[in-house]
Amino acid sequence: DLLINNAGYGVPGTFDASPWPRHADFIQVLITAPTELAHRLLPGMRARGHGRIVNVASLAGHLPGTPGHTLYAAAKAYLIKFSQSLALENRRHGVHVTALCPGFTYSEFHDVSGARALVSKMPARMWMHADTVVTQGLAAVERGDIVYINGRLNRAIKTLFKLLPDRAALALIARRSRRFRVMQGAGTGKAPER
Ligand SMILES: NC(=O)c1ccc[n+]([C@@H]2O[C@H](COP(=O)([O-])OP(=O)(O)OC[C@H]3O[C@@H](n4cnc5c(N)ncnc54)[C@H](OP(=O)(O)O)[C@@H]3O)[C@@H](O)[C@H]2O)c1
Repeated sequence: DLLINNAGYGVPGTFDASPWPRHADFIQVLITAPTELAHRLLPGMRARGHGRIVNVASLAGHLPGTPGHTLYAAAKAYLIKFSQSLALENRRHGVHVTALCPGFTYSEFHDVSGARALVSKMPARMWMHADTVVTQGLAAVERGDIVYINGRLNRAIKTLFKLLPDRAALALIARRSRRFRVMQGAGTGKAPER
């Protein structure tokens, strides 16, 4: 009845800083697994005329890619586009599909990726609690929202980047990433072992 593709993590550092198997694992968890699970569970949902699929993407999927965590924004953008197509294909069969796009959320995510010290410098108003994100996400899929961004500030950030010309958006991301790397005091963090 309900599939929530939530598993995810970040691989810090530049693309060349990690060996291929680490990138392949990342693609397996963030792209292949959610896609395969949806493919396997969808027929039953359609047959019963009822189903819900939540693909936990990210605000990052709406923004230009950042240097470091090279595949993260790309994987989340994939989940957003995949959700849109799947939602349109299945809405007449009682199956709702939502790409849930949180911004910074309190969880273990940034401990796992080794970015805790860096992101803890973000202002408190940028952060949401996981239970709020979950409650809003479940309401969104029930309503039939195809893409849902948690939080007014995150929606404003998405809109701002949509209005900016591509070059200006990339320049803004590049500037902010540089600032964060200086704050972190490290250029290309090595990916932590899981
Ligand atoms: N936290 C944020 O700021 C934020 C913002 C936007 C989007 N998101 C997205 O939200 C989702 C949930 O992340 P979270 O913030 O709740 O982080 P989290 O606390 O670190 O939880 C990550 C979850 O993914 C599972 N997972 C990680 N690697 C896995 C693997 N190789 N195989 C199977 N399961 C794996 C973990 O399972 P174990 O506990 O068993 O390791 C855990 O349940 C992710 O898709 C993330 O990209 C998070």
